Amino acid sequence: MTVLLSENHSFVDWRASQQAAVEQALSLWVSPHAPAGLGEAMRYAVLDGGKRLRPLLVLATSEAVSGSLAAAMRAACAVELIHAYSLVHDDMPCMDNDVLRRGKPTVHVRFGEAQALLAGDALQALAFELLVPDDDSISPSMAALLCRLLARSAGSSGMAGGQAVDLASVGLALDQSALEAMHRQKTGALLQASVMMGAATGHASAEVLTPFAQYGASLGLAFQVVDDILDVTADSATLGKTAGKDAAFDKPTFVSLLGLEQAQAYADRVLDQAHGALDQTGLPHLHTLHALADWVGQRAH
Ligand code: IPE
Ligand code: IPE
Ligand code: MG
Ligand code: MG
Ligand code: MG
Repeated sequence: MTVLLSENHSFVDWRASQQAAVEQALSLWVSPHAPAGLGEAMRYAVLDGGKRLRPLLVLATSEAVSGSLAAAMRAACAVELIHAYSLVHDDMPCMDNDVLRRGKPTVHVRFGEAQALLAGDALQALAFELLVPDDDSISPSMAALLCRLLARSAGSSGMAGGQAVDLASVGLALDQSALEAMHRQKTGALLQASVMMGAATGHASAEVLTPFAQYGASLGLAFQVVDDILDVTADSATLGKTAGKDAAFDKPTFVSLLGLEQAQAYADRVLDQAHGALDQTGLPHLHTLHALADWVGQRAH
């Protein structure tokens, strides 16, 4: 019990210090000086909010493979910029039509739809710019790999493709495998890419990359199942976004398919798989990645 408590304590400290470091780096890299208020909208979308789970996965995986910290911080911020852009667009009237995000009015509510669209576009471009620095902090071959991993996870076979399925599925009763496929794409792909990008900042062997990919995929799927659960069980103030949206929009979710209790049991099973995959890497320093998987299952928002 004492060991568990002290481990949790060190994870909480690690998480807080990495979240602060990511915030500082994002604040430096997302310039306020873009024209016609675009910089302000971009910073509003990215700074002062969010759990920063994707950056934490990049940084923890990089630590586990003794990767380059400079590359890991750029990769961590790049993936968060893609995530922030996906949220800005997800909230727009043409998609989920949401007015609250991270405890604040959504970007289109605050700055208008055109500016929200452009802020998302510009955040996506900036993500890739960060991965190709004009100094020697990331080698050309590592930069190319990081770009490839991020692009694949964000595009039509990842997040954007999953979002298309999400919108096309309103009012439909998807079966479990179709729902799982949608969740793996719209949310899981970016979380899995976070892990693989962290691994790419070091010299991870194929024996390590395969279980890392399984860990990332399971964690990513479980994360969206828990998001479906929290949409039903948590309130808007806790979530920082409007609760109850999925049922109101008649979206297929793991809760609509299985009910709350079974959805939670399913998330727990998938998280067990994540823990198991992690152990198969055989790496010595995995406690932060295990703690991140626990956090995904236990989070309140
Ligand atoms: C919300 O993601 C959108 C989904 C992919 C489910 P997060 O729950 O990670 O949102 P923030 O970054 O903490 O605001
Ligand atoms: C969003 O899923 C996934 C993204 C790729 C942004 P949701 O639509 O369920 O996310 P929330 O609940 O609005 O954060
Ligand atoms: Mg959505
Ligand atoms: Mg949404
Ligand atoms: Mg949701």
